Amino acid sequence: MRLPHRLVLVTLLVSFVILFRILVNQWLSFEASVETVESAQSLERAVTTDANVGTKNHTILVWHWPFGDSFNLDGDFCKDKFGVPNCIMVDDQSRLTEADVVIFHNRELIQGQQRLPVSLKRPVKQRWVWLTMESPANNGDVKPFAGYFNWTMTYHQDADMYSPYGFMVSKDSETEEPLESLIPKDKTNLVCWVVSNFSPHHKRTAIYEKLKTVIPIEVYGGAVNKRLDDNTLLPTISRCFFYLAFENSVFRDYITEKLWRNAYMSGAVPVVFGPSREEYEAVAQKDSFIHVNDFNSVEELGEFLKTLAADRERYASYFNWRRKYTVEIKHWVELACKFCPKISSMPPLKVYEDIDAWQK
Ligand SMILES: *[C@@H]1O[C@H](CO)[C@@H](O)[C@H](O)[C@H]1NC(C)=O
Ligand SMILES: *[C@@H]1O[C@H](CO)[C@@H](O)[C@H](O)[C@H]1NC(C)=O
Repeated sequence: MRLPHRLVLVTLLVSFVILFRILVNQWLSFEASVETVESAQSLERAVTTDANVGTKNHTILVWHWPFGDSFNLDGDFCKDKFGVPNCIMVDDQSRLTEADVVIFHNRELIQGQQRLPVSLKRPVKQRWVWLTMESPANNGDVKPFAGYFNWTMTYHQDADMYSPYGFMVSKDSETEEPLESLIPKDKTNLVCWVVSNFSPHHKRTAIYEKLKTVIPIEVYGGAVNKRLDDNTLLPTISRCFFYLAFENSVFRDYITEKLWRNAYMSGAVPVVFGPSREEYEAVAQKDSFIHVNDFNSVEELGEFLKTLAADRERYASYFNWRRKYTVEIKHWVELACKFCPKISSMPPLKVYEDIDAWQK
């Protein structure tokens, strides 16, 4: 063989060897990455395989009913009531092993009426859900539950099963009616407040005490022996220009029926006290409420409310959002049923190691 030819051959050979090694290396690192992905996915597969068939029923066990408020789960409850197929809701504790999801309401756990079935065998795929609608101030000592729950069901924006006190949802089409028609007639009271749990220690109480020196406030509720029942609550509040939607404690995302039902459903403009304006705006239209923190002082707030009630056009602007949005209130049971289709796409493994820190 002539020299130039041998040179070409050697070069080719060396190139092949280099190329081969590159390919082998790439293959090895690919294998390694596949392995890590696979170990992460193996549990997920275990959790989702059945669901991929499409018709698998998911079973949600309500371990005990919050405050004893039970639903009759006969028939295909989630389908019949909320149009959600393949979601079996049961409340029979003996069906623990067949449940994909078990919901535990916090109140009865901390009060000792119910216990977590920690001594029973727990299927690997089963998720335990911590359900509460209360703020951390009223959840008692939840530290003993550290490490037991996989999911949370609360009003927190980042709860796994998000269950707020209300939603603002877009209407299919914007209302054509004049703005005035969206405002309840016969507004006879400037500011109203319904309070059942009146405590001088609540921050809201200090605001109320100061505000009532600036403007008149109608107070209703158990605290003042002027209880309003389900039939009189909304009609009474609708006669008020403003409603004090003051939360009993201030915590992240803790916005309750005081805003969603009492104020929005009645058609009184809410004056809110609770988490920051940003947190309210995350769930409600920004021109739908007045935030106590928008003012430098309670006196300033009082003066503003007085002026606003006297300025029809400006007052009406707080109803503008109602052209495009409507408020919906859904029971947690409905939200639990509607969560069913999402179960199979949830992250495979999750444990709340410190539920107390999470809730705050
Ligand atoms: C799912 O549940 C419904 C209602 O209980 C039942 O009719 C159906 O057979 C179940 N499907 C499967 C795949 O188990
Ligand atoms: C659920 O939480 C428990 C800890 O109590 C844990 O052992 C289990 O792996 C978790 N399961 C899932 C599917 O996240």
